[in-house]
Amino acid sequence: MSDLPPAELSKKAAASRALDYVEDGMLVGLGTGSTAKWFVDLLAQSGLKVTGVPTSSRTKAQAEGLGIPLTTLEQAGQLDLTIDGADEFDGRLNLIKGGGGALLQEKIVASASARMVVISDPSKEVATLGAFPLPVEIVRFGWGSTRAQVVEVLTVHGLGDKPTAWRGDEDPYVTDEGHYILDLSLGAIPDPAALNRDLNLVPGVVETGLFCGIASVVVVGLEDGSARVVSPS
Ligand code: A5P
Repeated sequence: MSDLPPAELSKKAAASRALDYVEDGMLVGLGTGSTAKWFVDLLAQSGLKVTGVPTSSRTKAQAEGLGIPLTTLEQAGQLDLTIDGADEFDGRLNLIKGGGGALLQEKIVASASARMVVISDPSKEVATLGAFPLPVEIVRFGWGSTRAQVVEVLTVHGLGDKPTAWRGDEDPYVTDEGHYILDLSLGAIPDPAALNRDLNLVPGVVETGLFCGIASVVVVGLEDGSARVVSPS
């Protein structure tokens, strides 16, 4: 019997199944978050001979500590595979990511990969994205004006009355790249690809946590240690 709580058992099961996608010699993007942390642990134990590209300072520190060979995206160029978690996914494998604040590096790394395998648990599967607040990474210069333009975009999408909040308590949360994060509590996002496109047109917006057309499959881990693979519908 494991002492792990059910949610951790699901995350571990997904991470374990994701090892099936990894082959010796691959360049592998290493995601960020509690599920990706399981994957990095299991990858280190697996004996697979890969080179990793971390998506955050946290993942870099973890992988270095476990002795996983690392390189940078600049050195690697194109990657074979990225394994990463998600905050929500829908039937088309649109994702919300960035709950852990690493959405920018995660999107750059996943986009530079031939395949992105998302590791998840049943709580992340939704009919429509948006219950999880959508993170938007914004440069610090002129952050107030940028927020106002983000709200204008939301208004065009029928979401202008929804709450927007800077991440952080007393001090704003600052990303690895030195930006702020605006969390948009939208409830439901009718057209994720269009919202992602329009938000990215605002000067000062660096990137959004909407990943559309990037994930290849989602591996959903279950408490009993099994996992199912979801392909785009
Ligand atoms: C990190 O910035 C995020 O994109 C994570 O991948 C996402 O929040 C999932 O995290 P958990 O695996 O901790 O739920």
